[in-house]
Amino acid sequence: MHENSVLDGTVIYANGDFRRYGEAKVGLLTHGLQYGTGCFEGIRGYWSPRERELYLIQLREHYERLFISAKMLLMVPPLAVDELIETTIELCKRNAYETDVYVRPCLFKAAEDVGVRLHDVPSLFAIVPLPFTSYLDKSRGVRACVSSWRRADDTMAPPRAKITGVYVNSALAKSEAVGNGYDEAILLSYDGHVSEGSAENIFLVRRGVLYTPDPSQNILEGCTRRAVMEIAGDLGVEVVERAIDRGELYAADEIFFSGTAAGIAYVASVDKRVVGNGSIGPITRRVAETYERAVVGGEPRYASWLTTVYAKKTTASMTTTSATRAYVT
Ligand SMILES: Cc1ncc(COP(=O)(O)O)c(C=O)c1O
Repeated sequence: MHENSVLDGTVIYANGDFRRYGEAKVGLLTHGLQYGTGCFEGIRGYWSPRERELYLIQLREHYERLFISAKMLLMVPPLAVDELIETTIELCKRNAYETDVYVRPCLFKAAEDVGVRLHDVPSLFAIVPLPFTSYLDKSRGVRACVSSWRRADDTMAPPRAKITGVYVNSALAKSEAVGNGYDEAILLSYDGHVSEGSAENIFLVRRGVLYTPDPSQNILEGCTRRAVMEIAGDLGVEVVERAIDRGELYAADEIFFSGTAAGIAYVASVDKRVVGNGSIGPITRRVAETYERAVVGGEPRYASWLTTVYAKKTTASMTTTSATRAYVT
């Protein structure tokens, strides 16, 4: 079938073992592929050339969210959170990464038969790491538009879970935005409030206060969103979670997206209306610079977000377990 020379040799974890990406196969009738019945995570690792260390970011938060997503689909990941953390560290080591990375754990319904359902279907779990640099071009601000697609509503499929099938909503919005000459889409919720970007949470600043849609606005409860709120609070910036109207996007002094892949990316315009003066605003800059220092170990205050791959210093909240021996070959 399709060969990918970079990925094929990558060591991945699948079905209880470490193996090469090119050796792992799924059948064409796999439920997760046919019906979108899977869930996943996106984890970043940042390489610090100075310290020759790879820092994995918010591993525990991501894997805890995977358990919530799995529960919604009547699945349970086959490893405990501590074991998932250990496996991810081991994978990065086996691939000897000395670069920024992205790690994609996924758990999906693996039966190969016909019949859409969640019950009585076995599942498969894999973790695929890959080298990764940037997702949104951060050399300039993001040109965003409000999408004609509404964010999937919790009454239809839960958007606070990272469910593969629900991402068709993001894909429709992103491609519409790019097709119309923008970089990114902002989706409104079904009742017309600002929800989030296609793969990012959104923040706006007005008169020195940082606003972001609250979790009832059909957002994914982002790990980076949480980090931003913590940083902003520590910087003395008031943070308010509430419903946000479309017009507030046009009136905002600053807007930025937050996400594991995107990092913190300032928005230069929305629907061709320039945000502020079109360059990065002062609060966005302070939050972004703090975050960017934090992810390479430069902010001791946020050290608990980081797991080091090579020094194998797991953070205070992360304990190792002997159970990992059962599957580390
Ligand atoms: C739809 C959506 N919203 C928000 C986010 C940001 O979440 P996080 O900061 O956990 O990456 C993502 C990325 O995972 C996403 O796909």
